[in-house]
Amino acid sequence: MLLSLYFLVAVAGFTIATNKTHLNPTIPGWHSDPSCVFVPEWDNTFFCATSTFLVTPGIPIHASKDLVNWRLASHALNRESQWPHYNTTGQNDGIFAVTLRYRDGVFYAITFFVSDGSNPLPPGLLLKTTDPFDDNAWSDEPVLFQPANIDPDLFWDDDGQAYLTVAESFIATIDVNSGAVGPTTQLWNGTGERNPEGPHIYKKDGWYYLLIAEGGTEVNHTVTMARSRSVTGTYIGFEGNPVLTNKDTGEYFQTVGHADLFHDVNGNWWTCALATRSGPEWVNYPMGREMVITPARWDEGEFPVISPVRGSESAWALPTVLDVRGTGPIYGNPDVFDFAPGSALPSNMIFWRWPDLASFTISPPGHPNTLRIIPSQEFSSNGVGPISLIGRLQTDTLFEFSIDVAFAPTAVDEEAGATVFLTQFQHVDLGIVLLSDNKTHLRLQTNGGGNLGAPPPAPVIRSIPSAWRSPITLTIRANNDTHYTFSAAPQGGDAVVLGALPSTILSGGTGPFTGTIAGAYATANNGTGTTPAYISSWRYTGIAQKIDNDTFVPS
Ligand SMILES: *[C@@H]1O[C@H](CO)[C@@H](O)[C@H](O)[C@H]1NC(C)=O
Ligand SMILES: *[C@@H]1O[C@H](CO)[C@@H](O)[C@H](O)[C@H]1NC(C)=O
Ligand SMILES: *[C@@H]1O[C@H](CO)[C@@H](O)[C@H](O)[C@H]1NC(C)=O
Ligand SMILES: *[C@@H]1O[C@H](CO)[C@@H](O)[C@H](O)[C@H]1NC(C)=O
Ligand SMILES: *[C@@H]1O[C@H](CO)[C@@H](O)[C@H](O)[C@H]1NC(C)=O
Ligand SMILES: *[C@@H]1O[C@H](CO)[C@@H](O)[C@H](O)[C@H]1NC(C)=O
Ligand SMILES: *[C@@H]1O[C@H](CO)[C@@H](O)[C@H](O)[C@H]1NC(C)=O
Ligand SMILES: *[C@@H]1O[C@H](CO)[C@@H](O)[C@H](O)[C@H]1NC(C)=O
Repeated sequence: MLLSLYFLVAVAGFTIATNKTHLNPTIPGWHSDPSCVFVPEWDNTFFCATSTFLVTPGIPIHASKDLVNWRLASHALNRESQWPHYNTTGQNDGIFAVTLRYRDGVFYAITFFVSDGSNPLPPGLLLKTTDPFDDNAWSDEPVLFQPANIDPDLFWDDDGQAYLTVAESFIATIDVNSGAVGPTTQLWNGTGERNPEGPHIYKKDGWYYLLIAEGGTEVNHTVTMARSRSVTGTYIGFEGNPVLTNKDTGEYFQTVGHADLFHDVNGNWWTCALATRSGPEWVNYPMGREMVITPARWDEGEFPVISPVRGSESAWALPTVLDVRGTGPIYGNPDVFDFAPGSALPSNMIFWRWPDLASFTISPPGHPNTLRIIPSQEFSSNGVGPISLIGRLQTDTLFEFSIDVAFAPTAVDEEAGATVFLTQFQHVDLGIVLLSDNKTHLRLQTNGGGNLGAPPPAPVIRSIPSAWRSPITLTIRANNDTHYTFSAAPQGGDAVVLGALPSTILSGGTGPFTGTIAGAYATANNGTGTTPAYISSWRYTGIAQKIDNDTFVPS
């Protein structure tokens, strides 16, 4: 029986072109500007990197052996010594698109930190590791290089020379050890759409192929290609451009672009890209730009033919492999975090900017199985200092997030609670807050409006009944793809619904490049408060993904 099964699989693998259904987004939640490599030397594993802007730890490395089941392998930017303290005030500044490449045993993550308009340009950053499953193995300080533009690409020619290519397709040689960059030439202006960016160079069948994004990272996003017999040009655009886009379509997946090409163990090609689940209306998309994967055919001597991005596609079959190595969270598993004494923060928990780590303590004395958060003075401003927010990405259209909060504020305006957060100007908070009547209240408060198209709804305030036992469970739930419902409950008691608010509040606006974070926060709201909040029983459960107009699949 075993033998005959093996025989069938072997026949299927090598002689019959079996296909499988591939679902998108492949990595749901805000994972923009993906770049992927297939590494036979690491047991035929695919590795992808995505942008993190102001979120830390930065540059997650996602690992999979079947492009379906993924694990968080490490973060390339995981220590303060690596973090560029540019003190930017822009909410959508920070770590822009990364290119991830592998060569001779070394992984390279090359990127650029956008800061306050980036004039003058800060240097680009190049991080390296020989073990993508170990945070500590990533280089302590990035190699810096100049001149830079956004979206750096790394390409090695057959003679071993490394090339740096940046937005607008300017290329130069680069020394990956010193960061020294040679003279710059421009390869191609694209097909004439705006923002020719996100370049990647590949060599195949004696051609140098240049892939770029054009049209801007909104609904006009496209992927176009050109090729040349020489790495520095002349590049001739493909007459079949664009090779990938969903612009001018009614598709649920929009903004498809910023792609990268890689192949699997069978030599079949794939494309990763970013996309936004918004429908052509492009108004409601709280998860922002997510990572999709679509199959491609790349025949000898030809440009690739890339399948259009859909929620469900027929694609090359790869055997299912659940046991990707490493110890990071497996994507799709719920968060069940109890902050046991001696435990570390789970690696999918994230901060806004480099945090004041002293503000987050697991199981402090007298408070076992809690995460203590010391409030930051500000939460909703453009300050450059750390804020006391800790979260995880919203990775599912429908989900439930809940935390237990023990918080006894003593100063007016002190607040702690659960939030869905896009930027410091766009978040909806369900907080426990001391108001000027010296009483503790529940408050559901909207900051900013994004694509709501109306002024933010007025806060909903309820006094907390004196019979309520602490900690209070705060729950944020998306039962459909247009609203979040906010509720609170005492220990052992019934929940009170504070309200339901539209997810358009967390779409666009000041956060067009990022995506919603579900998390816990504590703030003095510019007052004098320093009372800590104790968070326990952190739970996040994905319920369903919307993958087409009226189609949901279980998470
Ligand atoms: C950012 O602010 C910190 C603290 O004020 C300061 O030490 C650092 O030099 C600043 N960085 C830059 C690039 O200005
Ligand atoms: C791109 O366009 C600019 C402005 O028109 C032009 O100066 C430059 O030569 C063009 N580059 C290429 C590679 O065609
Ligand atoms: C997309 O392109 C159309 C047609 O050129 C233009 O009218 C529209 O403003 C563009 N939208 C964005 C978001 O760039
Ligand atoms: C999905 O809805 C959009 C409008 O929101 C429409 O243009 C498109 O045709 C619909 N697609 C399907 C497959 O029904
Ligand atoms: C299998 O998927 C590839 C990639 O999408 C496609 O080119 C091919 O036509 C599919 N084959 C079948 C039999 O559906
Ligand atoms: C706190 O102060 C900052 C800077 O003045 C301001 O932008 C922000 O709105 C204030 N926040 C609150 C909650 O008052
Ligand atoms: C609130 O408490 C403070 C300090 O205990 C006191 O000074 C203030 O008068 C109180 N305010 C109200 C409205 O009771
Ligand atoms: C989505 O959920 C909200 C909150 O429960 C509700 O008000 C709204 O009617 C729902 N929308 C649809 C289309 O059911």
